[in-house]
Amino acid sequence: MSGPNTSYDPVEVAALDPAAVDAAVEQALAAAAGASTLEELKAVRGAHQGDKSPLALANREIGALPPSAKAEAGKRVGQARGRVGQAFAARQAELEAERDERILVEEAVDVTLPPGRRPMGRRHPIALMSERIADLFTGMGWEVAEGPEIEAEWFNFDALNFDADHPARQMQDTFYVDPPGDGLVLRTHTSPVQARTLLERGVPVYVAAIGRVFRTDELDATHMPAFHQVEGLAVDEGITMAHLKGTLDRLAAELFGDGITTRLRPSYFPFTEPSAEMDLRCFVCRGEDPDCRTCKGTGWIEWGGCGMVNRNVLLACGVDPDRYTGFAFGMGVDRALMFRTGVSDMRDMIEGDVRFDAQFGMEI
Ligand code: PHE
Repeated sequence: MSGPNTSYDPVEVAALDPAAVDAAVEQALAAAAGASTLEELKAVRGAHQGDKSPLALANREIGALPPSAKAEAGKRVGQARGRVGQAFAARQAELEAERDERILVEEAVDVTLPPGRRPMGRRHPIALMSERIADLFTGMGWEVAEGPEIEAEWFNFDALNFDADHPARQMQDTFYVDPPGDGLVLRTHTSPVQARTLLERGVPVYVAAIGRVFRTDELDATHMPAFHQVEGLAVDEGITMAHLKGTLDRLAAELFGDGITTRLRPSYFPFTEPSAEMDLRCFVCRGEDPDCRTCKGTGWIEWGGCGMVNRNVLLACGVDPDRYTGFAFGMGVDRALMFRTGVSDMRDMIEGDVRFDAQFGMEI
């Protein structure tokens, strides 16, 4: 910057020369127009608007002018800086608008596109069915009991009044656990939970036990070496077979619909007396279609066994059979699932194909 100079002619100060100012403006306008991105604009802006730009330097020269010359030079430089400022601001606005438009296009989201589907897991239908049954009994005030899958032969057979030579004990039905002679089996039914419950909880008792059982059956459409049963046991004073029938009818109606009742046919189990096979009203034809394929025209479907708890079982478990009576029943959970879903091959339920779980593994 020059010092005060009274005999000074503004036109002679190079930086304030109108041509120089115009040239600086032209260059600045060209630079602003030539910037094609916001980054480029920012990069060139300093050279034309910054502290060291020709117009900023010219502005500084004004201070040194005689008062008479200041106004005119100030106006010229001021206007020039104004034009440059406007040009940069306008270009900036233009480029910002372009960028916003581009982003809108580039980052557009098509909300109508189908989402990437991630298959959801499902509970296994047998687990759901078991829970449903357990809920039903707890809803009636019963408790849920459990027993081990590897069971003492004593609980699985002896406590349940099976003779030592009962055919069910034979190797062809029962999986024995090594080493032989240790008295351990894979439980062949959930009935050992009856004996465990009586011994552990005493009477009166109302329990349902649901779990896996094992038999040496070949796997086919209607047999599985591992399957599931639901066991019921009620022992109290004054329990009769009418209570058993009422409970079974309630269970049938809850699981298969109103009007689906049960029927009892005389049978034999060592641990109940009298004993019965339990049939379910055919839930497809309700006994009205002699050509029904589900019940083969009989109107009934076999579902399990039941009866009044044998005195010998009560005695073996320390319960006074002259004071207490009870009923027990055992049904196939997998069979119930087959009935409810219409699946005709049990293997479909255990092969682990997620399509089966996806179809039947969700309940509303
Ligand atoms: N445990 C018997 C079975 O598996 C069913 C049953 C249970 C029968 C309770 C009577 C009482 O075949």
